[in-house]
Amino acid sequence: MSSFPTFLHPEAKSWRHESTKNWAPKFHASIPGFSESSLISLPELAHELGIGSLHVKNESSRLDLPAFKILGASWAVARVYGERLGIAEADLTFSAIKENASKSGITLLVAATDGNHGRAVARMGKYLGCKAEIFIPYGVSPEAIAAIESEGAIVHRTEESYDFAVDKAKVFSDSVSGAVLIQDTSWEGYEDIPAWIVEGYQTLCSEIDEQIGASGIDVVVIPVGVGSLAHAVVAHYRGASKFYPALVCVEPTVAACVLESLHRDERTSVETSPTIMAGLNCGTPSEAAWPLLRNGLSAAVSIGDQECAVAVKDLNAHGVDSGPCGGATLAGLRALLSNESARKELGITSGSHVVLINTEGFQANPLPSTF
Ligand SMILES: Cc1ncc(COP(=O)(O)O)c(C=O)c1O
Repeated sequence: MSSFPTFLHPEAKSWRHESTKNWAPKFHASIPGFSESSLISLPELAHELGIGSLHVKNESSRLDLPAFKILGASWAVARVYGERLGIAEADLTFSAIKENASKSGITLLVAATDGNHGRAVARMGKYLGCKAEIFIPYGVSPEAIAAIESEGAIVHRTEESYDFAVDKAKVFSDSVSGAVLIQDTSWEGYEDIPAWIVEGYQTLCSEIDEQIGASGIDVVVIPVGVGSLAHAVVAHYRGASKFYPALVCVEPTVAACVLESLHRDERTSVETSPTIMAGLNCGTPSEAAWPLLRNGLSAAVSIGDQECAVAVKDLNAHGVDSGPCGGATLAGLRALLSNESARKELGITSGSHVVLINTEGFQANPLPSTF
């Protein structure tokens, strides 16, 4: 029996989501210096876990940033500029936006962040010659704050929860003419930009499908904050992909809003408290993500900082550059596999092929010295 809070929904594998053409990969390929991230095989860990293979999608370096978030921020910013400049989504390229950015009327990009998303938005501002102002909650490391500032952005520290920082960013953005809020979570009336961020994230799923080879994919493990990345993974694997894996979401026990929502069968906010998994420290699932998470996730599990820190060290010892949000996936997989009935219900066997999405490198969010 596992002691980790878990929710199981094995039937989710057969749920299907209608997909439309996604132009984000074409745009990403047009960004100077863009290349796909690696998919790393870890046979020793697979053996330890009693599964057929373990691969890590390694997002520790995307366009020189130590996390996957630039995939979403870049496409959302491109779509916003595209709308202002009258460029159709199929025709969006980095150079088309950059050359015309000054004609867009956009003067400021605003976001709230636990670290990585804000840095990615600030980087897009730097690329396009547009200012950025970023709101942060408590618990963001000094290194992460300095990294956002190194992109030329102004950082506002709220010392409150992530949800509070999002509210602050929204009110601020509404008060400045020419400002655009680039937020990676959605609520009623704010849907387009988060939807474009989700489309942008799907580039990493398309890459996994091309990189995995003959084994195929039986399980994908996703670290979850507001659930926009999980939204992208569900949309892809219940939609356009030729693979139909079980999809497992992992959250910190102190911020398990998706696990709680699944248990209650309704989108639910939870009180949060600090965790080393700063990027996952969110109290409310994204509104647009919730129906897909509810229908398409096969399992959800929550883990503590201690298990996460062990997993981070293990991944780094196996040559994978991983920070706490990435390490959460290995910790979550271990928690899930320690539960015999979960293994059985999800059909995970000694032949199963598992992919972990390692969403950040160590540099993005180093382990505190107490771990
Ligand atoms: C490194 C990292 N991994 C995972 C996530 C979770 O993504 P989402 O909030 O879309 O669930 C975040 C979010 O900030 C993050 O920074």
